[in-house]
Amino acid sequence: MGDTPNDIQTVVGILKKGGLVAVPTETVYGLAADALNPNACRKIFDIKGRPLIDPLIVHVYSRDQVETLAHWSTAAQRLAAAFWPGPLTLVLPKKAAVSDIVTAGRPAVAIRMPRHPFLRKVLKVGRLPLAAPSANPFGYLSPTQARHVCASLGSRIPYILDGGPCSIGLESTIVDLSTPGHPQLLRPGPITAEAITDILETPPARHLKHCAKARVAPGQFKRHYRPRTPLHLFASGTSPSLTARDHKVKVAWVTLCRQSVSLPTGNRNVATFWLSKSGDLNEAAHNLFALLHHLDAQSYQAIYLEKMPAEGIGIAINDRLERAAAS
Ligand code: TXA
Ligand code: MG
Repeated sequence: MGDTPNDIQTVVGILKKGGLVAVPTETVYGLAADALNPNACRKIFDIKGRPLIDPLIVHVYSRDQVETLAHWSTAAQRLAAAFWPGPLTLVLPKKAAVSDIVTAGRPAVAIRMPRHPFLRKVLKVGRLPLAAPSANPFGYLSPTQARHVCASLGSRIPYILDGGPCSIGLESTIVDLSTPGHPQLLRPGPITAEAITDILETPPARHLKHCAKARVAPGQFKRHYRPRTPLHLFASGTSPSLTARDHKVKVAWVTLCRQSVSLPTGNRNVATFWLSKSGDLNEAAHNLFALLHHLDAQSYQAIYLEKMPAEGIGIAINDRLERAAAS
């Protein structure tokens, strides 16, 4: 599963025949298919158990490739120039080459140019745009290592390209530019609303923040990214109150940094973890899904997790955590 030319050729060969491959990106692992082959894309929904109403992101190698799929605007070109390749997805009016299965019948397509060198090689050698959602069963934790994919979908996909742990560890920011003059933030992510507004320069700091509440991506269900173990959030800098039952069973207690809050007392079965020794939010994002995968594979009866400060990538982490903890 390394990055020898052979592996890339094998991956490209599978994709060209309409097969699926799990690929590394800098955000999370994706389950990729030829975006121009509707039958191949249909398999993604089948294997993930994903509803057909939830559209797919198309990954491209170059900005030229975007021309074949969607209509660019000045705003889109400015954002692409600033953040691609990288963790930003742009929703743009689609062209006829993109089938309804990819966009779930919508007139706009979500496009991203990823940064991971292995995936860039696959895109370059294959000369195919790749539709790829996160490579997890629908609703479950996103995979940030090849073994996370292997554990959940390994028996159903022919190849996992192992590119090591994803450097960012959290899904891309999604900005909808399909209505001229009204950019909308559909999913907070590693690139903040402020950074996007700085590039757009139009008054829409307001729009972006307002719409972050008003609208979300169609597939952003209230319950999502969930571990099997019940997850409870507690406010940043506070101590969680455990239930009477939790005092008797094995629970995991996760904080942002090492000494951020004091340990809940009276329970010898509490195991403590932190997402970043120094409280660095980017490191916390990088570790988040990997730690939740690890805890979910142990016999904890509950996970208590401290919410992040609402700044920078902390906003996106909290968005995922709230969905993961939603009942
Ligand atoms: O970082 C990422 O974005 C990762 C990697 C693999 O690229 N992909 C990812 O895909 O997170 P997925 O399918 O797990 O989440 C994509 C989100 C969904 O909420 C989906 O509804 C939304 O993007 N989306 C896709 N196409 C869209 C469209 N045409 N219009 C609006 N939202 C769209
Ligand atoms: Mg996903």
